[in-house]
Amino acid sequence: MDWKEQIDMEKLPRHIAIIMDGNGRWAKQHGRPRVFGHRNGVLAVRETTEAAAELGVEYLTLYAFSTENWGRPRTEVTALMHLLVETLHKEVDTLNKNNIRLQAIGDISKLPASTHRALLDGIERTRNNTRMTLVLALNYSSKWEIVEAARVLAARVQRHEIEPEAIDEALFAQALTTREIPDPELVIRTSGETRLSNFLLWQAAYSELLFTDIFWPDFRKEHLHQAIVDYQRRERRFGKISEQVG
Ligand code: IPE
Ligand code: IPE
Ligand code: MG
Repeated sequence: MDWKEQIDMEKLPRHIAIIMDGNGRWAKQHGRPRVFGHRNGVLAVRETTEAAAELGVEYLTLYAFSTENWGRPRTEVTALMHLLVETLHKEVDTLNKNNIRLQAIGDISKLPASTHRALLDGIERTRNNTRMTLVLALNYSSKWEIVEAARVLAARVQRHEIEPEAIDEALFAQALTTREIPDPELVIRTSGETRLSNFLLWQAAYSELLFTDIFWPDFRKEHLHQAIVDYQRRERRFGKISEQVG
């Protein structure tokens, strides 16, 4: 079955966010070290980015490293940070060729210097691209982001720039790292785990969630196509009843 043909191009999600999970288990299945899974996950990143851009999705956010991931064995963390630098160096030209802009969310200043530099360089070199925005969530934690936003708003109140009463959902959203990015209509998690793991808790308040058993390194264009078809078959009611939204 060709899933791509079944996609309604008029009803594409503007923003798809993906929790790329299962690299380690994929590697284990192949009798290889976990890093082998991460390396193969890069291929899935390339495929998914291409597929999203081909369709005309405006924003693709990929959860690449959570704040909690620092707690992994040091060798794995180091390997992941190296892989990131290597991938950025290799792929930024391709992003430019495809008119894709790179952005990042998360506490990226806490990344190792070489990773931070490669990331800022990639963001700078692609900043005028207009076809799609690829957002990497790196050293990202949704609770961290929400606490930071609260801190920024509290400071503004203290400086008498705003009254506490002025703080509403819109102002709060403006204080988040995603302020220029629309909320994702669709959040996908691979590998069979059915949790959000501290990802976009505010932004995904009304997202459609899709969980697939596929391990991330096996994720291909058709899986993204299938996920979009699934999303388009759902009724998004936003608290109303079917007759109101249909
Ligand atoms: C996702 O795969 C990649 C990162 C979190 C960096 P995992 O490394 O979590 O793989 P599993 O979940 O252990 O299989
Ligand atoms: C979530 O995956 C983080 C990323 C995909 C970057 P994890 O593998 O770290 O999440 P848990 O530990 O299963 O919740
Ligand atoms: Mg995992």
